Amino acid sequence: MQQVTVTEHLLLNQKQSPMATGRFTSLISELILSAKIISREVTKAGLVDVLGFTGDTNVQGEKVRKLDEFANNVLIHRMRRSGVLCAMASEENGDLIQISGDLPKGDYILIFDPLDGSSNIDVNVSIGTIFSIYRRPLKKSGENPTLEEVLQRCDKQVAAGYFIYGSSTMMVFTTGAGVHGFTLDPSVGEFLLSHPNMMIPEQGRIYSVNESYWNYWDNPTKDVISYFKSTKTALGQPYSSRYIGSLVADFHRNLLYGGIFMYPAKQNPDTGKYQGKLRLTCEAAPMAMIIEQAGGLATDGVNRILDYTPSELHQRVPFFVGSRNDVMTVKDIMGQAE
Ligand code: AHG
Ligand code: MN
Ligand code: MN
Ligand code: MN
Repeated sequence: MQQVTVTEHLLLNQKQSPMATGRFTSLISELILSAKIISREVTKAGLVDVLGFTGDTNVQGEKVRKLDEFANNVLIHRMRRSGVLCAMASEENGDLIQISGDLPKGDYILIFDPLDGSSNIDVNVSIGTIFSIYRRPLKKSGENPTLEEVLQRCDKQVAAGYFIYGSSTMMVFTTGAGVHGFTLDPSVGEFLLSHPNMMIPEQGRIYSVNESYWNYWDNPTKDVISYFKSTKTALGQPYSSRYIGSLVADFHRNLLYGGIFMYPAKQNPDTGKYQGKLRLTCEAAPMAMIIEQAGGLATDGVNRILDYTPSELHQRVPFFVGSRNDVMTVKDIMGQAE
């Protein structure tokens, strides 16, 4: 069997992809090395002291787990020395992470969720790392990029992807020329092409949502969930409900089998306001780029995620992502209510 590595794949597709430059390739190679280190640590969880909490609370108001912190530190440490970035942002850090003084800088901006699904760490359920890459729009040499330069319209992403630490470790990513999946072969330590040109079925058969929030949803959202609970798919079967609680894992399954993942806005009992949970820059936007490249759709219920321009680094957004027909159904139901 022909075994194609990520680097080979980028080089082989050089003609089609303007991203296959040496600098972009080294950015991806550093990301891969970081993910291998995180994967190694995840695999050892339970044997070494990486389970449980650090005692800190992050900028999202969440209790930080030891593996959240480990993954974040690995990515920041490795990527800031890559020489190809001018700034980074992480789910775990309140502010932009600048590339300090004497380190070499490049044009790329990296935004990441170092460990996604971290509530599943201690119970051996799949978790992941999500990344999103932009280019710096106007390069002013020597100066660090401003927040405005980082908060670009989401369709300006030049690449996006995720690593999933599951029954095997996989990397799934796009540079705007389709979605390709690579599986880590632990015996050689390389990610090898296993899922070329991934496409999500147009019609899904799974819906994924945390239904315990029912009482916190507005009526159009309840109508959407009722639809998926009570309607047969165009394939003639009822939908199946599957919810892991790791966006990466729920997304990955739906990408392969067809389906829709939903994290609707829910009401904050203190303020009365409706808000999504998932973060636009490090969760929704990269997944939206991947799903569109795989033939699916991603919206906030009505509007396309990739048309958003974030107004702040940790902006949250309602998120509906998956098979084209299913996301369109949500839009039809929610659009009627508007
Ligand atoms: P993270 O672990 O990076 O903070 O992300 C958690 C996210 C996402 O992975 C998942 O889909 C969602 O939170 C689950 O939230 P609920 O527990 O509210 O369902
Ligand atoms: Mn978190
Ligand atoms: Mn996450
Ligand atoms: Mn996370």
